[in-house]
Amino acid sequence: MKTEDIIKGEAQYILQTYGRPEFVLERGNGVYLFDMDGNRYLDFVSGLAVNALGYGDYEVLKAIEAQAAKLMHVSNLYHTIPSVQVAQRLVEHSFADRVFFCNSGTEAWEASLKFCRKWGNTTHDQPKNRLIAFENSFHGRTYGSISTTGQPKYHKGFEPLLPGIDFAQFNDLASVESLVTDQTCAILVEPVQAEGGIHAATGEFLAGLRHLCDEREMLLVFDEIQVGCGRLGSLWAYQQYEIEPDIMTLAKALGGGLPIGVALLRQKVADAIEAGDHAATFGANPVACAAATTVLDKLLEPGFIDGVREKGEHLIDRLQKLQQRWPEHITEVRGKGLIAGAVTSQPAADYLAAFRQRDILVATAGADVVRFLPPLVVERDRIDEAVDVFDEILRQGV
Ligand SMILES: Cc1ncc(COP(=O)(O)O)c(C=O)c1O
Repeated sequence: MKTEDIIKGEAQYILQTYGRPEFVLERGNGVYLFDMDGNRYLDFVSGLAVNALGYGDYEVLKAIEAQAAKLMHVSNLYHTIPSVQVAQRLVEHSFADRVFFCNSGTEAWEASLKFCRKWGNTTHDQPKNRLIAFENSFHGRTYGSISTTGQPKYHKGFEPLLPGIDFAQFNDLASVESLVTDQTCAILVEPVQAEGGIHAATGEFLAGLRHLCDEREMLLVFDEIQVGCGRLGSLWAYQQYEIEPDIMTLAKALGGGLPIGVALLRQKVADAIEAGDHAATFGANPVACAAATTVLDKLLEPGFIDGVREKGEHLIDRLQKLQQRWPEHITEVRGKGLIAGAVTSQPAADYLAAFRQRDILVATAGADVVRFLPPLVVERDRIDEAVDVFDEILRQGV
């Protein structure tokens, strides 16, 4: 099979929900991807914040191989070893007391929405089930997720959405306070809005939300699906803010490339959940859990997360210098750790194509943000290479 056969086959057989560039990725190694025609790309997308350890990490591969040879799936009717191993690590290294396993970010988010409403409805005298979410947020593509996503483009054509959801302005505590009623059970927030254009919450805002939740008996829910697991230069995003949520969702990087989603809960939320309230056939899949345990162990190795923070500062510093050089093309640089966005005056998609022509893969976050999401194992020189190429693109024009 050749590149054109695959592209033709994709157009013929696969539902056209994605627009893809005209090459076919075949293998990866470290921070590089290779297409069917032998071209090599420096990867600053990481499979959308999944491949934190790059491609072909030896330990992850070994863990997957060993577990796949032993046991791949039995369903949640039975106990298995890897689920407990990864759950213990998640609990011991976070605010949480319990975890629920599923298979993706949107599933983890759906589970959290159900847990919030169950907690609100069953632990209070009056029904307490309204949710406050934020404008410009992103939480996935299933119904609960799009209903709590504050971007109309994801709703269009799919109405009616889930009822009982109010939207406040991100980083504006007063807008949240004005929406809270005795029926509100939870506030749902991304510590850094990623898909929405890389907007970090301020410490003051998140501390204010924590205070409001405590005062008005509501749960604080953090979506760390994209920015958890080391991406910001701390194991969890909330650790940068000196407050803790009541529920946190994870997915993406945790599985080392295999599908996994997790909702982490405080005991008070877990107390409201009974056997049978929620389930997933593939949840806690032994192979995905074995991979996740290895990923966590590697993130927790001394110096790893510090390295992410330092490299992240370097990336953002270099992008800021580029902005000073090309203020007419880059109007702002935003980011934290190894997620960075350059706001461009021309469509971000034009830059994507220009990077690709120079064998570098980057992503967008909305129409005017070029998003940089390298594997967390990226070296400083590769960051310099990507920024130098951006400089060249800006000099030559798109
Ligand atoms: C913050 C956030 N939440 C939820 C999701 C949905 O995750 P998934 O695509 O695994 O369903 C994403 C995916 O980009 C995300 O960035």
